[in-house]
Amino acid sequence: MSQHPTSQYTPSQLSAIERSQSLEEAIADRPSSFRILTGDRPTGPLHIGHYFGTLTNRVRLQNLGVELIVLIADYQVLTDRDASGQLSETVRGLVADYLAVGIDPTRSLIFAHSAVPQLNELVLPFLSLVSDTELHRNPTVKAETEATGRGPSGLMLTYPVHQAADILFCHANLVPVGLDQLPHLEMTRVVARRFNERYGQLFAEPDALLTTTPLLLGADGQKMSKTRDNGITLAAAEDETAAIIRRVPTDSERHITYEPDRRPQVANLLDLLATAIGEDHSAVAERIGAGGASQLKRELTDALNDVLRPIRQRRRAAAANPGDLDRILNDGNARAREIAADTLRQVHRALGMTYSDQSQDSLTV
Ligand code: TRP
Repeated sequence: MSQHPTSQYTPSQLSAIERSQSLEEAIADRPSSFRILTGDRPTGPLHIGHYFGTLTNRVRLQNLGVELIVLIADYQVLTDRDASGQLSETVRGLVADYLAVGIDPTRSLIFAHSAVPQLNELVLPFLSLVSDTELHRNPTVKAETEATGRGPSGLMLTYPVHQAADILFCHANLVPVGLDQLPHLEMTRVVARRFNERYGQLFAEPDALLTTTPLLLGADGQKMSKTRDNGITLAAAEDETAAIIRRVPTDSERHITYEPDRRPQVANLLDLLATAIGEDHSAVAERIGAGGASQLKRELTDALNDVLRPIRQRRRAAAANPGDLDRILNDGNARAREIAADTLRQVHRALGMTYSDQSQDSLTV
């Protein structure tokens, strides 16, 4: 992000960027005072966009001593598609991806939406706190709705409120996100604030921790996406990685230069390579120069395979034990249910819904 001119950000994005910088200092000082909630839609295997964009950041924060809760947002899959029969395989694959990159289930919690009804129930009171206009105004929801080519379903329109429940059920105070998720975080803050105003202080307003890597594009120059199948997945083999990079169309100019506006494809490859080896993209462009696209692609293939090799090894080991993956998820689900039941009890109390046995949790069947 530091690589882009600040003029392209809106004022609210800029203030979130500044706020993130001071949060980083607070995290370094007092890591244990932060609880992070972050998540992914299980629409396919994770790819290098996720890796550089969010996964390395999650692992870094976990290793600093921040409490990390990772949500597999399976209900959110339904915002723009029908559930597929392969959902459980995809979810298992996601758990393997998490373990492979270094999320440690003895320290961090991994769970799935659908296994935590108490979280989902929070959506009901939360929906009462936002207006129809606010739901329709969300730019990310608008963009996602347009991409489906149909009008928004009720779930699409309200998923930012669901996301507020994801974050507030565990009283998370920090959410690492990319710019596209900022409107959702703002919705979460609004829900927390209004709940507190109406029913008494219960929820802290969580902060966004903005990810600082530039958006990496997929092999076709479009946004890297699990569904477009244009990204290099963590699980991909080395020769598959090479083949995907070989297929990327470049332009007919031989000399490599970093010019994102005029040469977006070349710039994207340079961004990827610079990110993978931790160097500045312009310096990389200069070094490759006359070596042309073939050298750029060769270096990128090697760099990515180097970064991914140990991850792929760990992933294979993890995937070889599906029973362990299920157990990790089951344990996470059970713990998330306890946390969510506590929060739902607090919410019921705040709303005056304390007449049912369930508020004492003595509902036995
Ligand atoms: N909407 C996020 C995505 O598409 C996934 C997600 C669901 C999430 N709930 C969340 C992210 C809560 C952060 C916090 O990637």
